[in-house]
Amino acid sequence: MQAIKPIIWDGEILQLLDQRMLPEEEIYIQCRSVSDVVGSIKDMVVRGAPAIGVAAAFAMVLAARQITCADAGEEAAPVSSDGLLEHLEEAAAYLKESRPTAVNLSWGVDRMLGLTRRLRDASPDKILKEMNIEAENIFREDIDCNKKIGDWGAQLIRNGSTVLTHCNAGALATAGYGTALGVVRSAFFGGKKIAVFANETRPFLQGARLTAWELQKEGIPVTLIVDGAAGYFISSGAVDCIVVGADRIAENGDTANKIGTYMLAVLARENSIPFYVAAPSSTIDISVSSGEDIVVEERSADEVTAVRGTSLAPAGIEVKNPSFDITPSRLITALITEHGITFFPTREKIRQLVREMKGPKDILPK
Ligand code: MRU
Repeated sequence: MQAIKPIIWDGEILQLLDQRMLPEEEIYIQCRSVSDVVGSIKDMVVRGAPAIGVAAAFAMVLAARQITCADAGEEAAPVSSDGLLEHLEEAAAYLKESRPTAVNLSWGVDRMLGLTRRLRDASPDKILKEMNIEAENIFREDIDCNKKIGDWGAQLIRNGSTVLTHCNAGALATAGYGTALGVVRSAFFGGKKIAVFANETRPFLQGARLTAWELQKEGIPVTLIVDGAAGYFISSGAVDCIVVGADRIAENGDTANKIGTYMLAVLARENSIPFYVAAPSSTIDISVSSGEDIVVEERSADEVTAVRGTSLAPAGIEVKNPSFDITPSRLITALITEHGITFFPTREKIRQLVREMKGPKDILPK
């Protein structure tokens, strides 16, 4: 049973659990069009790299429905397969612009586009039907992937450990189960006695609002700390390892993740504790040579100067709000994917990992 459902699809409407409202309210936003989904990604209704990728895949089905199904949108009218494909290429470009750093977004969109290009000669109805199946596969595979990541990662977590995590790389950030929190779940439900320190993760507070909520909901011991307290706890020996997710992993293993992650990796090295990155292989982007080439999203100043409408800073203050930072691969003890554990990732090891991925669903889009 999937306890936390960030994404619900019924074949016609995409429901997204509104992560801006958690933990106070559990409400769903109903998306009927690509622009509904683009708006939800930009506004962080849905967030977390794999969840964005899955939502974007369903958005491609909504795009197809908008021009093939009489009940789905004003534009619905008889359309040719070529017309449908042209419309889907536009929808794909629009979706990809919604957030720049997490590669899973374009991965999900490209996988849907790849399918439609292969079905160019089929009828629009057939294309729509196959797209629906493909998006549902992407959803299911994400959960399966996370469980595999969890099982691999749990082997690295010793009984009695305290794990520190940053942001939310949990069920909420994926189709379900989570990557970094998947490792925590597998270790905990596998019988290990573990506890979690959740960094609050300013400014959007994914740690305080989301990670704390989802772990508490499942009875996994969690303690919330402010981001600035991580060094204090790590240096005093209270943390055994750090596990985080990833938004994009370059070919050399450099990893983009939520702003503040790099500081934790430095702290881990300074204090000789392991720093693990847990992510599906769809987060690896070998078209990007190193972290220097990863685009870091700059978000609005309002996220820093106010929390839910309450001002925290003087009006007109200059603000910088990069949403991600880059952790160099030399600081990463291991990368945990659904394929296994890659210790001390290097360019050669990432290339090898990508070569070993089997089956069309694991091949990175061209
Ligand atoms: O800005 P967000 O909340 O989308 O950032 C999310 C993160 O940085 C996560 O750690 C990452 O996407 C991995 S989620 C499994």
